[in-house]
Amino acid sequence: MSFDSQQFRRALGRFATGVCVITANPLGHKPFGVTVNSFSSLSLTPPLVLWSLQKTSDTMDAFATATSYCANVLAEDQQALSGRFAKKGDHALEDADYRTGDAGLPVLHGALASFECEIDARHDGGDHIILVGKVVAMHAGEPGKPLLYFDGGYRQIG
Ligand SMILES: Cc1cc2nc3c(=O)[nH]c(=O)nc-3n(C[C@H](O)[C@H](O)[C@H](O)COP(=O)(O)O)c2cc1C
Repeated sequence: MSFDSQQFRRALGRFATGVCVITANPLGHKPFGVTVNSFSSLSLTPPLVLWSLQKTSDTMDAFATATSYCANVLAEDQQALSGRFAKKGDHALEDADYRTGDAGLPVLHGALASFECEIDARHDGGDHIILVGKVVAMHAGEPGKPLLYFDGGYRQIG
């Protein structure tokens, strides 16, 4: 290889993304969240989305048994929330963070959109696993500007 992983990571950071908090409440676990920017739309019919989880994540056990998750698209004023769920350690949601959505998953207050999903497939992806979700309920929150991630930092539109 003519590049190392740091150079690869830096180049990948040139791809601007939104930021999501993936929430879940699998049996035997308290509701929790993890910050990701690997969320992507996948298919319109059927309605599928995907994201990927580092295999070393402390949340891996919970996602190994989970049958569903909710992808919450963060608004520009939710950077602190993103930071909270990107830290190792406590991923627990507080009651004030969310309401229970139509499919029984934690839907974060203030998100631009939330997609409640049943896990449709898991694929190996190197040091990540790819979690494909079938969207079973959707909430397009209040219109607003998104939180962005680019070149290793949070950004805003405009
Ligand atoms: C903007 C941003 C995007 C991230 N995207 C991902 C991702 O797509 N997949 C992932 O597994 N971790 C991602 N992370 C890292 C996790 O949020 C973080 O490593 C994790 O929550 C803390 O480690 P733990 O899961 O072992 O507790 C991202 C972090 C930030 C700040």
